[in-house]
Amino acid sequence: MTATTPSHATTSSTGAVIEHLPLARLTTLGVGGISEVWTVNNHAQLHEAMQAPYRVLGGGSNLVVSDQGVRERVIRLKGDFATTDLSPTAESTPDQLITGWVGGGVPLPGLLRRLREAGLSNLEGTAGVPAQVGGAVWMNAGTRYGEMFDGLHRLEIASPGGVQQVLASELPWGYRHSAIPRGHIVTRVQLKLRYSTPAEVAEHMNSADLARKGQPKMKTPGCAFKNPGGASAGKLIDEAGLKGTRIGGAMISPDHANFIVNVGDATAADVHALLNLIRDRVGTDMELEYELWP
Ligand code: FAD
Ligand code: EPU
Repeated sequence: MTATTPSHATTSSTGAVIEHLPLARLTTLGVGGISEVWTVNNHAQLHEAMQAPYRVLGGGSNLVVSDQGVRERVIRLKGDFATTDLSPTAESTPDQLITGWVGGGVPLPGLLRRLREAGLSNLEGTAGVPAQVGGAVWMNAGTRYGEMFDGLHRLEIASPGGVQQVLASELPWGYRHSAIPRGHIVTRVQLKLRYSTPAEVAEHMNSADLARKGQPKMKTPGCAFKNPGGASAGKLIDEAGLKGTRIGGAMISPDHANFIVNVGDATAADVHALLNLIRDRVGTDMELEYELWP
């Protein structure tokens, strides 16, 4: 054990920190049982962690985790995967900045703050998404103002088979979707940015933030369902009269019907029951946006 290892933790042979933690503490919904969490700081530790069945956790902002936790080890990216290098690389041009590496474990809100201060544009549409960079890239998080792939140049992706680099232009992506296979881990990315001014970047971010005015400020994993076609999932659930419906400690938000919130003591089972109720009552094929573990 090193001086910085928490007293209840052990370390793997390469030095990854292994703890048994309630995932409720690591998710924005605040739900999820105890699981084996591997915190990895470099590629050697990540490679070791990937030698048994695993899941990767980002900001935990799109997850409903079982009250029993998960059987697989849960990998968290820190250390080398949580650093930000925005300096220009040789691939930059006078019009376009291609940055150094930004870790998959970097919190997206902090990255956006730095981009705003530096007057660097292209990712403003993701303002207000409470993710880590890797999680936001994996599902191409965004808003109607823009999404993660707008500002991506190159991705470094790890799988049990090894680490590869891919140009973002070679990966298909769409609304809340990228072609990165499940289980492949976005370890770092290089950004593709446009030189602008702090004032202009701030203005764009404020527009994306304004669109959130109706969203609840409570424990939640964000929108439950993707918007089907041109319709709004929130409007459909609202029109079905479900706002404010409560099962156990979970409730369909009275502010915005596509948000399920934890009103204090929600369990994953409560959330699943509400999701099933919505599917039953809204007569459309509703595609879940968040992920259920397991
Ligand atoms: P997690 O929730 O930790 O994980 C989600 C999935 O990503 C899992 O499959 C996980 O294995 C995978 N993953 C995580 N990290 C990596 C990695 N490094 N490499 C590969 N896969 C990884 N989303 C939007 O798109 N737009 C919004 O406007 C928006 N608003 C939100 C508002 C609130 C209040 C909340 C709570 C959520 C909102 N979300 C929104 C949903 C959520 O923030 C996004 O889905 C985000 O991309 C999840 O990222 P994460 O890092 O938290 O991933
Ligand atoms: N509406 C209702 N009742 C409701 C909720 C919404 O009638 O209970 C109506 C609104 O009045 C509006 C329309 O539905 O006319 C759309 O609502 P809103 O503007 O809130 O946008 P949204 O489509 O519900 C999307 C994203 C959000 C993103 C916002 C802002 C999806 C599923 N949701 O919400 O993303 O933050 O736009 O850009 O795409 C997320 O993905 O987790 C998420 C929060």
